[in-house]
Amino acid sequence: MNELTLEQEFQAKIDADLKIEPKDWMPDAYRKTLIRQISQHAHSEIVGMLPEGNWISRAPSLRRKVALLAKVQDEGGHGLYLYSATETLGIDREELIEDLHSGKAKYSSIFNYPSLNWADIGAIGWLVDGAAIMNQVALCRTSYGPYARAMVRICKEESFHQRQGYEILLSLCRGTEVQKRMAQDAINRWWWPSLMMFGPPDTDSPNSEQSMKWRIKRQSNDELRQRFIDMTVPQADFLGLVVPDPQLKWNEERGHYDFGPIDWEEFRNVLKGNGQCNRQRMKDRIKAHEEGAWVREAAMAYAEKRSRRQEQVSSVA
Ligand code: 3HC
Repeated sequence: MNELTLEQEFQAKIDADLKIEPKDWMPDAYRKTLIRQISQHAHSEIVGMLPEGNWISRAPSLRRKVALLAKVQDEGGHGLYLYSATETLGIDREELIEDLHSGKAKYSSIFNYPSLNWADIGAIGWLVDGAAIMNQVALCRTSYGPYARAMVRICKEESFHQRQGYEILLSLCRGTEVQKRMAQDAINRWWWPSLMMFGPPDTDSPNSEQSMKWRIKRQSNDELRQRFIDMTVPQADFLGLVVPDPQLKWNEERGHYDFGPIDWEEFRNVLKGNGQCNRQRMKDRIKAHEEGAWVREAAMAYAEKRSRRQEQVSSVA
């Protein structure tokens, strides 16, 4: 069958909302886009463990420590699901991790901002995981089977992440004046970078059009960003926090919040590696990977020993 027919059959499956599975024929460009997006999603999960990991030993109570420990552990698991989903596309995890460490691959810009105090852990859970959920719920309907299925499980865990963050801020907002000021300072610093998590404006998004055609992306960057703002502003009101956007205003006619301009220069700068924590994050990530080498070697040695023993058993059986 020629390439054109294969492409037409492939697109017909996409248009019929059928899932594409690893063994199905797919255009190289579709495969490449998935490897790019899913691996960068995985990198974001793993690098995202760093800003919060710093606060596990500084949590204000055992209960907060246990919740944060569980969340950071979940993020590691999300990274592993997503690396596994990427490997179904015929690429090795080592190559993906090498691309992250060399700076060739991206991870979400949000993780290049510093977590300065405990209120930041609340803001990260509420805003960063809240934004991630908005994006990931849409991805539960993405056209690539393994990615969509990974999303279903990840979203279940993300809702706990968002809730524990919101509860941290609720406790601070019902606390002393100093604690309330900490919560307001945290939202002042995390609000705009969280909006950038949805990607550049649709008019400046080189991948969106094709990704929407292939139903990898089910809603556009701007659509999900707007939905996140509409959902989150009432939650900020309930906390008694002021969203740091003087132009934020409910627009009855649109049925959405109007909001001020996002600093895309800052976004591009962070992506270029000039964020507050880019260098530190990569240094910590590479150090953790190197220090974990013995665990990977031991696991591989054990797996090889087991498969040799199974071969011996089956050869004498
Ligand atoms: N940070 C870093 N890079 C970003 C970015 C961000 N916030 N937003 C966009 N980019 C990059 C894109 O990767 C692309 O670069 P590339 O072509 O070299 O990969 C470029 O900017 C142009 O953006 P596009 O909109 O054209 O790119 P996409 O169509 O890929 O859309 C996306 C960007 C919406 C992030 C999409 O890739 C996506 O939905 N990814 C899956 C979700 C994801 O990765 N989320 C990251 C957060 S996960 C997380 O927060 C974990 C949670 O547990 C806390």
